[in-house]
Amino acid sequence: MCGIFGEITSKQDAPSTVFSGLKDIEYRGYDSWGIAFPQNGSLKVIKKVGFLPKTFPLPNSSVSIGHTRWATHGGVTEINAHPHTDCKGKIALVHNGIVENFLELKVKLKNHHFKSETDSEVIAHLIEEEKNKGKSLTDSASYVFRKLAGMNAIVVTDGKEIVACKMGSPLVVGKLKDGFALASDPNALLPLTNHLIFMEDEQIVNLNSQIKMFDKKGLRQINPKFKDVPWVHVQSELKKYPHFMLKEIYEQPEVLNSIVKNSHEIEKVSQLIKKAYGTFLIACGSASYSCLAGVYLFSKFAKKHVNFSIGSEFNYIQDYITPESLLIAVSQSGESMDTLEPVVQAKAKKAKIVGLVNVLGSTLYRIADYPLLLQAGLEKAVASTKALTAMFAMMILLAFTVVGKRKEAEEIIKQSALEISSILKRKNQIKKLADRLKSIQHIYILGRGLSYPVALETALKIKELSYIHSEGFAGGELKHGVIAMIEKGTPVIVYVPNDETKSAMLSNAMEVKARGAFVIGIGPESNPVFDFFFKVADVGASSMIPHIVFAQLLAYFLTTKLGHNPDKPRNLAKSVVVR
Ligand code: AGP
Repeated sequence: MCGIFGEITSKQDAPSTVFSGLKDIEYRGYDSWGIAFPQNGSLKVIKKVGFLPKTFPLPNSSVSIGHTRWATHGGVTEINAHPHTDCKGKIALVHNGIVENFLELKVKLKNHHFKSETDSEVIAHLIEEEKNKGKSLTDSASYVFRKLAGMNAIVVTDGKEIVACKMGSPLVVGKLKDGFALASDPNALLPLTNHLIFMEDEQIVNLNSQIKMFDKKGLRQINPKFKDVPWVHVQSELKKYPHFMLKEIYEQPEVLNSIVKNSHEIEKVSQLIKKAYGTFLIACGSASYSCLAGVYLFSKFAKKHVNFSIGSEFNYIQDYITPESLLIAVSQSGESMDTLEPVVQAKAKKAKIVGLVNVLGSTLYRIADYPLLLQAGLEKAVASTKALTAMFAMMILLAFTVVGKRKEAEEIIKQSALEISSILKRKNQIKKLADRLKSIQHIYILGRGLSYPVALETALKIKELSYIHSEGFAGGELKHGVIAMIEKGTPVIVYVPNDETKSAMLSNAMEVKARGAFVIGIGPESNPVFDFFFKVADVGASSMIPHIVFAQLLAYFLTTKLGHNPDKPRNLAKSVVVR
């Protein structure tokens, strides 16, 4: 997953404009960054490992392209950072995606000198080959683009013009008063323009003093049609918070209350669910846990069977999708390739698509038949918090609304917002627990029913932020193998809400306690079996939400105590735009 930004302008501020644009898309990958621009008749390329600095001195120039990298091929090094050049440094290229046939293409370039281990650099040398035959940059890039297998977006410049090719990974072009800009994400262009073209797959653009646009990977010229989007550039400042993650944890009560205020938008989707012949909830990572919770919610409160699948796995089980099917894809970024791919396949089978998404103008937002915004606001921290609890709240609203009980759902969501405020006031208790757990190797989390997805999310939050190995399990699975891992002092978090899972969960707690575990009980009532207890009031089906906030705070405190960066955990990116 990488971020791309480029600009060609009659003004001379392209490098600095690109640099600030990269800051808006750094969430897409922050292993390294780079920028290229023409200088004294040749192309200057600057590449650095690590996060973008607050400022960076850059000269004037009328053309520039830039990139933020999440490594797919080749280590996190300056050499592997983008932009990549051809042998003579005549062109510079940035790339988002995976060239699945890059080795097969690379062997044909024997007389080329490769500097990096990346698949991306192969594209630059392939374009060089074509340019050496006298082809234009556009013809060279489109010829090469037709050879690439996989989902890729490439942007290449010779210092005089920019050519961009799109297949799978997003690219948006903006029309400026004095030129053009392009980026992986529309929000990054909004400070410059509201006149946008969302490039479609197989499209190519040539940006110079004018724009030329082609379809079918360069084989057919088409008329570029800019759309005026009524959107404003969204930004988020840290203000008094040490990290965006903590700020976004604190924003959750307000987000949940605003979801309740705008819950009427749910009615349309609930009608679709009632009419559908099969509803499928699909998502990845944390978002997938909100879909798993949906299966329990629809069964318990709407007596309705809905299906759940992890996005990437849905590709392998969706042969039964028909035009009467309804796919509800849930995604904070709206760009997760593992969620988008099955959506595109289901659309091809004429299924209806609902997109529960947080980013306006994202790919999922644009391709869904029924886009529904999560309204969580810009979420900058890579680990999802407020967007995730918004997803859980939407699932609760949907399940209750399907049986005409939206008001009931609104009530318990409002109560969960109040309980989050109470938890935030008691967060030092969680900080103490983090002190006790920070040097632990393995943490296990058990939950049943609606607490099972909570157990999975707790494990993911701890893993992806503190890098401590943690695993979430259905409580009933304990005796089917997991219990072998329990020894003296092993911390086991058990979710014990006041619902039908309570007594079975207390039995699980006693079973691990009997083997020496350090039992951490989370719920409305304490119990002698708990070695540590954190109270979370009973807010009915919405209890999942404050339980998740407990997990967010535990993961946050573990991370900061271990000296890691909670906003940009190692190896991760905010949206996984490659499969
Ligand atoms: C969130 O904490 C995780 N980093 C990750 O699992 C995320 O939920 C997943 O990648 C899905 O992202 P999306 O919601 O943008 O599709």
